[in-house]
Amino acid sequence: MLKTHTCGELRASDAGKEVTLSGWVNRRRDHGGLIFLDLRDRSGITQITVSDDPEGNPPNGANPSSTSSNGNNCAGALATASQVRSEFVVQVSGSVQKRPKGFENPELETGEIEVIASELQILSEARTPPFVISGNQGDEVDEAVRLKYRYLDLRRPRLAANLRLRHDIVRFIRNFFYDRDFLEVETPILLKSTPEGARDFVVPSRIHPGRFYALPQSPQQMKQLLMIAGFERYFQIARCFRDEDLRADRQPEFTQLDLEMSFVEAADVMALIEEMLISLSAEVSDKPIQKLPFPVLTYDEAMDKYGIDRPDLRFGLQLFDVTELVRNSRFGVFKNAVAAGGIVKGVRYPQGAQLSRKDIDDLIEYVKPYGAKGLAWIGLTGDAGDNGQYSTDNLRSPIIKFLSEEESAGLVTASGAEKGDLILLVADEPDVTNPALANLRLEIGARANLVDPNLLAFCWVVDFPLLEYDSQEDRWGAIHHPFTSARDEDWSILEERPADVRAKAYDVVLNGWEIGGGSIRIHRSNLQMRMFQRLGLSEKEVDEQFGHMLEAFQYGAPPHGGIAMGIERVVALFADAQSIREVMAFPKTATGTDLLLEAPSPVEDDQLAELHIAVRERNPVSN
Ligand code: AMO
Ligand code: AMP
Repeated sequence: MLKTHTCGELRASDAGKEVTLSGWVNRRRDHGGLIFLDLRDRSGITQITVSDDPEGNPPNGANPSSTSSNGNNCAGALATASQVRSEFVVQVSGSVQKRPKGFENPELETGEIEVIASELQILSEARTPPFVISGNQGDEVDEAVRLKYRYLDLRRPRLAANLRLRHDIVRFIRNFFYDRDFLEVETPILLKSTPEGARDFVVPSRIHPGRFYALPQSPQQMKQLLMIAGFERYFQIARCFRDEDLRADRQPEFTQLDLEMSFVEAADVMALIEEMLISLSAEVSDKPIQKLPFPVLTYDEAMDKYGIDRPDLRFGLQLFDVTELVRNSRFGVFKNAVAAGGIVKGVRYPQGAQLSRKDIDDLIEYVKPYGAKGLAWIGLTGDAGDNGQYSTDNLRSPIIKFLSEEESAGLVTASGAEKGDLILLVADEPDVTNPALANLRLEIGARANLVDPNLLAFCWVVDFPLLEYDSQEDRWGAIHHPFTSARDEDWSILEERPADVRAKAYDVVLNGWEIGGGSIRIHRSNLQMRMFQRLGLSEKEVDEQFGHMLEAFQYGAPPHGGIAMGIERVVALFADAQSIREVMAFPKTATGTDLLLEAPSPVEDDQLAELHIAVRERNPVSN
């Protein structure tokens, strides 16, 4: 071994030991005949003192001899140390010494000691890195540079800690499921194209011209087949691939905790996952869980109160609906929106009545990307009247002249606003109003400092609709995936009232992020066939794409269900990271490129020929 100890482990009790350490030079401080090296490895940092005095005294100290009695070459070490630069890899031998009183460094775990170098050897030199590695400076460094030099970025403490946390979380999850008799099974990466909502990544077959494998969007069909195989409890830390538009919480390649169980109902899967998340939180986080058991919201409730199916429950500010109140309003924007089948909803901005016009204009700009055509606002600047109600006289709003007394009083009551608050309203179709206000609510939460960053607010969202209408394709699609079962009582309306069918599906949400989703599956061939028909698949399409599933269901399929959790999202939340890229070793950019390897990349014409592929267009890769 090139080391006897790590750079994080030496303590005062080790004083007097002869040790050898190896690592990277985090920082070098040169005081003439005395050089300090902060030596770093993944476990921590140790101060190395190199001087021309074997006792580590300054050059004008009591013992100026340059060669110690046991033959160590201190002058040689000093000469080497003066050549060393940040990020050089060095090996140091020397003795552990307690630091003189007053020179301890409480910031370092090894801060009570230093190693007085007797020998120093450079194992590898380093160019000046493109950004500072010691400490967490460099967060402001352009992410493209960080990704290109990811191996340097990963040396920095925060990223290194994130990956260690990820390791701890995955290890915890594995042990949790091993202890509960789950079998870990690997499923193929080269699979068949399956419709799960996103686009597939495909891999051309050399042996079968014109045919392709698809990379799994998730191991959904395989885990169901494992239930039919009789495994009863399966889990896997599974790699998934989806060719979709990327965001802070989405990557083309990501990892799921994937699991499936037989002879269970939704409540069983949910209870198990809840237990896991509670014990995982205790293991890796100091933050308390806001509410136990996890609150359960129906999809309708979540949309109604928060405008989104993954509400951040760390703060209140529920949305309110005034559609009925303003149905016949003189304010055309409201009236027309309602007449066209839209809704009018709002959110309260605590103490927002004093916001400047510019601040309010910012809020209006903020909802526009969600399709909102405007944002009506009413400030409660004055006091309520003697009857405790607000009237048009004590409200500040550009639309107040269009509102009746009844409407303005009703709006204030519905919003729960008090003196000093601002009411913000959007009138549009639900698909615009809800997302606009859901995001505005988050923005207000952030601006008004309502979000407690030290809380873990988990919740379940259940009773999702099974289907959604795709107006472009003019057909119904599965919201989750086509294997999700309808609730028993809803099968009877599958054909006549598809919009009203609820699914046996559940999502688990943490602080406004969807961290997992699953369902109880269809396990009967005839029901699965009805579902495919409802989705508008022809018999031929069903046979080609899902014949194997329908056939498998005919050989004795147990009732089963499961869930998958996004590992990166879970880790990012526990790491307080804004993006899942911060918890992945080698993530891709928002356009799916790997800046370190420069992938995707062209391949040789020979390779293409072998794969029976002709390229029609070649674009330069951009990030
Ligand atoms: P679903 O598609 O909801 O369900 O995915 C489950 C969880 O995986 C995470 N996730 C992602 N994480 C990072 N990048 C992505 N592109 C990405 N897409 C999804 C999310 C999500 O909650 N087979 C079903 C599960 C089941 O029914 O058992 C499935 O994959 O955290
Ligand atoms: P306008 O008549 O377009 O000048 O709008 C009058 C006020 O209503 C402005 O404050 C707009 O921001 C607001 N507004 C316009 N469209 C909407 C809408 N769809 N929902 C809520 N407020 C709106």
